[in-house]
Amino acid sequence: MSVTHEKPGRAALHLARAAASAPSPHNRQPWFFVEEGHDHGFELHADRGRRMARMDPGGREMVIACGAALFNVRVALRHLGFRPVVDVLPDPGDPDYLARVGFGAHAPATDEEELLAGAMFHRHTHRGPFGAELVSGELLQALGEQAGVEGAFLQVIDSSEKLETLADLVRGAEQADRADFRHTVELGRCVGSAGVPVEACRPHPDLTLLAARDYLGLSRRSTVPARRQGIGTGTVAVLSTPYDNRADWLLAGQALQRVLLYAAHHGVMAGFHTQPLERPALRGELRRNVAAGRYPQMVLRLGRPHIVRSTSRRPPTEVLKRAPAAVRH
Ligand SMILES: Cc1cc2nc3c(=O)[nH]c(=O)nc-3n(C[C@H](O)[C@H](O)[C@H](O)COP(=O)(O)O)c2cc1C
Repeated sequence: MSVTHEKPGRAALHLARAAASAPSPHNRQPWFFVEEGHDHGFELHADRGRRMARMDPGGREMVIACGAALFNVRVALRHLGFRPVVDVLPDPGDPDYLARVGFGAHAPATDEEELLAGAMFHRHTHRGPFGAELVSGELLQALGEQAGVEGAFLQVIDSSEKLETLADLVRGAEQADRADFRHTVELGRCVGSAGVPVEACRPHPDLTLLAARDYLGLSRRSTVPARRQGIGTGTVAVLSTPYDNRADWLLAGQALQRVLLYAAHHGVMAGFHTQPLERPALRGELRRNVAAGRYPQMVLRLGRPHIVRSTSRRPPTEVLKRAPAAVRH
């Protein structure tokens, strides 16, 4: 694909900022965007050079992150007063060209769309325990409906048996990751101002019921006493899809972001525990024993954090390119 680096238009910059605020595995931001001339269209491409090569060789998590970015583009376009016209996987010859978003008819955003747009830059990943206030059943039901709008399923894990099974799967995967030198090197490379900031990964990874990534190697230095474990876990949920192809991963990312923005508007943030989903055998077990045969795409905790930590992004000018006039649609 041919691109130029002319100065981007204001709408495209707005869309690129919105897209880039999406979550991505360890803040790798595995995407780039192409502006097709003023108000013509906006392309979303996966940047496979930025995926986690060892943890995500097939690019599933990379595409989920791009799906979340796509949802933000849709919401940002609604905020500008246009209806997005989304063409998913528009080029069969280029699987990393994930979506083209056209500027459709004018229509003012609804209150719910404005709510989602307003939450975009306030949503942050939370690591460590949540505060004591639980997420209400009413909000959990609404979050399930938000996932359903996109065609995904948000399953709240409320049976203690399933919760234990899930916690064991996360712990098993995390222990294997910690014992794998190449894995720890790949994760360690993501820590810092260009990835996950040190302040955001300070809580001990073994405090909550679901083991977290050991970004700082804290588990080697200290253990958490049993009486302090599991406090502040919050509500555990699994996001799944009926199938497991590229289109489903993109769908999962859009559903994830819809859930996260709706939750953030209500003061609820998420923590992620995707370790078992990166190991095919454990993912299969999770699918059969927890997710009722659906394909698990994300494992998350939801709750109300005491503190939220923001994480920086590459500037929009670095991720936004401009298609030369000849290839504009
Ligand atoms: C597919 C996917 C998997 C993720 N897995 C984890 C994880 O296992 N542990 C974690 O702490 N964060 C995980 N994250 C969250 C990212 O680390 C986070 O989005 C990124 O650091 C940017 O921070 P922000 O979400 O606060 O903007 C994941 C995000 C995505 C999209």
